[in-house]
Amino acid sequence: MTADRALIVGIESTCDETGCAVVADGRTVLSNIVASQIDLHARFGGVVPEIASRAHIEAINTVIGQAMAKSGVQPADVAAVAVANEPGLIGSLLVGLMAAKTLAWVWDKPLVAVNHVCAHAYSPALDAEPIEYPAAALVCSGGHTALYRCQSPTELTLLGGTIDDAAGEAFDKVAGILRLGFPGGPAIDRAASCGDPTVVKLPRSLLKGQSLDFSFSGVKTAVLYHVNGLPGRRKGKKGRLGPHAQRTMAQPNAGRGIENFTSQEIADLAASFRAAVVDTLIIKLRRAAKATGAKTLILGGGVSANSALRSAARKLADKLRCRLRLPAMAFTVDNAAMTAGLGYHYLRAGRLADYSLTARGTTGR
Ligand code: KG4
Ligand code: ZN
Repeated sequence: MTADRALIVGIESTCDETGCAVVADGRTVLSNIVASQIDLHARFGGVVPEIASRAHIEAINTVIGQAMAKSGVQPADVAAVAVANEPGLIGSLLVGLMAAKTLAWVWDKPLVAVNHVCAHAYSPALDAEPIEYPAAALVCSGGHTALYRCQSPTELTLLGGTIDDAAGEAFDKVAGILRLGFPGGPAIDRAASCGDPTVVKLPRSLLKGQSLDFSFSGVKTAVLYHVNGLPGRRKGKKGRLGPHAQRTMAQPNAGRGIENFTSQEIADLAASFRAAVVDTLIIKLRRAAKATGAKTLILGGGVSANSALRSAARKLADKLRCRLRLPAMAFTVDNAAMTAGLGYHYLRAGRLADYSLTARGTTGR
């Protein structure tokens, strides 16, 4: 087998999806099995770490077996085992890491460590043309919002990140406020498609100066106030309010409680929230493109499935005369194909891990 046809087995268990994939040459996906835990977490309105790690333990062997069987690849032909060992939920990461170490040891293959967020930035290359570098990448998912300057698949410099909620986390929390279910991103995207994004005025944070950091907790709280009113205040009651709170309370129907909102009002609020998040993401991506001079824009992560974000990114790329690389929908959510794909490039660069490899959980941005 030539180095260009190296077959990489990838393992993903950073959050609530257990994944195993076999990828040839860093781009051709031979199999990509994902066992989602959404049903287990839905009634809690978010991912419960302890439940997630237990579910990974139950699923991992089956998922690996299915991925190998579907690919038709024999262990002897595998070039390396790649694992997402950071960032993520620590208990979940450990399950995938142990499985990957075990495979590497039993099959006597090299072990490769992959950063999960960097793998999202590589995901548009899967089952597609190679990405042309340098690029500016925006990764937004449930746990991360990050902008990178990318010189190659393996050389990424962090330009900015969220100082509070990640974009996907904000979608999930706002969907909770609107009682649209979990995961919130797809639910808000669906509801927003029937709504008017100009109806509710919501803030766009951290747009001053040239900051490449993000903050989504303000817009989330503005939605909460719009639905429930300000804590301890009824609509109509006079008092000293900040400018945004005044604006929020001045909006028609604000503060009545979600059960009193019509489905059209919920759709308008979902559309207004989606527009606020998308505007913010796109403004920052434009800044990153200008700051880096990159002619390729990359989107990745679960939120890159968002229809409004995808079309706004297309418009931005046209305006800046940049190429735009979007992941196929199957590779927007957490998956092991992107881990294997990026792992191939680490293998080629000789960046191998050993059995002392540890998992590193999310520690902020
Ligand atoms: O990348 P991902 O699968 O997991 C993490 O690494 O966190 O992203 C999951 C996140 C969730 O917060 C989910 O609500 C969000 O991606 N998401 C979306 C959409 N589909 C998934 N957010 C906005 N619009 C969507 N269509
Ligand atoms: Zn992810």
